[in-house]
Amino acid sequence: MIGGLTVVPVLVAGGSVFGAEVFGVDWKKPISNDVVGQLVNLQDRYAVFIFRETGLDNAGHIAFSKQLGDKLEVNPFFYGRENDRVGESLLFDVGNIELDGSLVKSNSRRWHHSMDNALWHTDSTYHQQRSKYSLLLSHGDAVTGGCYTHFADTRRAYSDLPQDLKDELEDLIVEHDLWHSRKLASPIIYGSPTDREKALKPPAYHRLVQTAPDGRKTLYLAAHAKCIIGRSFGESQELIWRLIDHCTQSKYVFSMEWLSGGDVVWWDNRQSMHRSNPYLEGMSARDVRRSTVVDDGPFAFGVTSQGNGELNSLAK
Ligand SMILES: [Fe+2]
Repeated sequence: MIGGLTVVPVLVAGGSVFGAEVFGVDWKKPISNDVVGQLVNLQDRYAVFIFRETGLDNAGHIAFSKQLGDKLEVNPFFYGRENDRVGESLLFDVGNIELDGSLVKSNSRRWHHSMDNALWHTDSTYHQQRSKYSLLLSHGDAVTGGCYTHFADTRRAYSDLPQDLKDELEDLIVEHDLWHSRKLASPIIYGSPTDREKALKPPAYHRLVQTAPDGRKTLYLAAHAKCIIGRSFGESQELIWRLIDHCTQSKYVFSMEWLSGGDVVWWDNRQSMHRSNPYLEGMSARDVRRSTVVDDGPFAFGVTSQGNGELNSLAK
């Protein structure tokens, strides 16, 4: 029990903790700044928090997210309330329900989008100003047919690397590109993004080895990671996926099952990776919505071309 909060760790191993279920937050009324401060301090250590049956709606979801940072990501594909099932530009619809209320059809664009989310990734690494937190809230009834989100501890995974590899990785800069991971997950649909799509999401550059909020070093990786500056595409992909495979070994991973409407998971993109289950035939309605809190910390803007001429020679 910490300040009225009960924190039950999920993965305790190797002298490290990762993920926790948190009890004791009264979601029926506005969360005080004191409680938010306690939660953020604890979150720096655990990286992933699960809250069950919060009873939050869209407004409560957005209000709590705004207490965690000044700016939330705006959904660039939000075309107004009449064209969006969720009806909020600050929430991303990651459910399996179409605008008309029907379940997503296999091989529809939404279906293929879910395949991108099923690759191990970190949200918004393809933004030059990255995002620090993501918060998923489930609505409606519990899902049948298997509904999980999986998390990997990139801090502990980094600490277990051999020193010579740590030395090799220390100064590497990675180009992240949303269209790269979309193409990986679904080459038929996303093999040729439109000019509008590419203009909406240009690539971004971030250091591979970073200092996590808890002070430990971590790997900042994602399926969006396309190239390492100074290396060929093939060499880059070989190293990137070797590291992702390392980070996502079962000893660094836990799986959160979505049990009830109102369940929330809040994770720190600066010190974890995640993936969801892809949509499956026979899965019931899965109404999950995400807010994303923009990073305002010291590494928020990654590596920009100003002052780093190497970026200009990336194209190989
Ligand atoms: Fe994600």
